[in-house]
Amino acid sequence: MTLRTACAIANPNIAFIKYWGNRDPTLRLPSNGSISLTLGGLETQTTVTFDESLSSDHVSVDGQPASASTSERVSIHLDRIRLVAGFDIYATVESCNNFPVGAGIASSASAFAALTMAGISAAGLSLPPIELSRLARRGSGSACRSIFGGFVEWYAGDSDEDSYAESFASADHWDLQDLIVIVSQEHKGVGSTQGHVLADTSPLQSARVADAQRRLKECRRAILERDFFSLASIIELDCHLMHAVMHTSTPSLMYWYPETLQIMSAVTKWRTDGYHVCYTIDAGPNVHCICTNEHADSIEEQLRHLPGVIKILRAHPGESARVVTALK
Ligand code: PMV
Repeated sequence: MTLRTACAIANPNIAFIKYWGNRDPTLRLPSNGSISLTLGGLETQTTVTFDESLSSDHVSVDGQPASASTSERVSIHLDRIRLVAGFDIYATVESCNNFPVGAGIASSASAFAALTMAGISAAGLSLPPIELSRLARRGSGSACRSIFGGFVEWYAGDSDEDSYAESFASADHWDLQDLIVIVSQEHKGVGSTQGHVLADTSPLQSARVADAQRRLKECRRAILERDFFSLASIIELDCHLMHAVMHTSTPSLMYWYPETLQIMSAVTKWRTDGYHVCYTIDAGPNVHCICTNEHADSIEEQLRHLPGVIKILRAHPGESARVVTALK
C-alpha cells in the first residue's frame, strides 16, 4: 500500500482592501482586487495523506470529524489537486487551528492555503507560488493571499490564469500588529461564500467596485511609505464600504454587535489622541485593531477595559505558507 503524505502550515490574513463579491463564483474571480497582511502567530496546520485503501475522503478539523458541508468543500478542492496530480486516490485531511474558526478571522484563508500546499506536496508535485495561489483561490478566494507572507495583493484578473496574489512588501517591511478583539466566538450565521452571492443585490456594490483601483493604489502607497495615518483612512473607508454593501444587500447582512461599534468608536478617539491605531472588520463581529508596534501594548491595555471583550489575539506580519514534513 502506498501512502503519500505531507503537512503544511499557513497563516490567515486580514484584508485592508476587501474582496466582496465575485464576477465568476465557480472560478472565484473577484469583483475587485484586494490587499492583505498575512498574520503571523495564528496558524492552520494541515496534513494530507493520499491512501489507496480509502473509499472516500476523511476530513477532521481540530480533532473532530468535519461537518458534511466542510467535508464536501474539502473533497471538491482535493478533486482539483487530484486533477493536477493525475490520480484518483482518496485522502485523509487533518486540520488544526490555534485560533477560533468561523468568527471573521479568515480561517478559510489559512485552511485552503494549507490544504493546497499539503495536498500538492503529498501528491509529489512542486508548483511555483503563483500556481499554488491560483489553485488555493478556487477553494476560498482569500486563501490565494495566504500563500504569501507580508503585505500581499490579489490581482482580480480577467480569467483563471491571471487571478492570483503576490507579495509586494515582506513581513519585515513594517512591524504592524493586529490586535484581534474577540467579542463573540460563535460560528457566524452567513459565511462569506454565501455573502459574496448577495453583494450584487446591493445598489452600492457597483460604486464600491468602481472606486477599488483608487483605494488599492492609495493602500499600496501608504504601506510602501509606512504612512500610518493615510493607511488608517483608507483601511477604515474600505471596511465601511464593504459593510455598507452587506447592510444594503437583499437579504441584509449585519455582522456587527453593539460591542463592535463600541470598539470602532474607541479606536477613532484614540487615533484623534495621536495613537497609531485603526480598525477593520471582516464577515463577523470581531474587530481587527491595526497598530504600530510602538503603540500596541498601550492599545491592548486600553482595549481590555472595554465592555464585552472576551479576549484579544495578537498577530504580527507573517511568512508565506510552508511545507513542514517532507513527502514520505
Ligand atoms: O475568501 P472568503 O470567501 O472567505 O472571503 C473573504 C471575505 C472577507 O474576509 C470579508 C474580505 C477579504 O478580502 O478577506
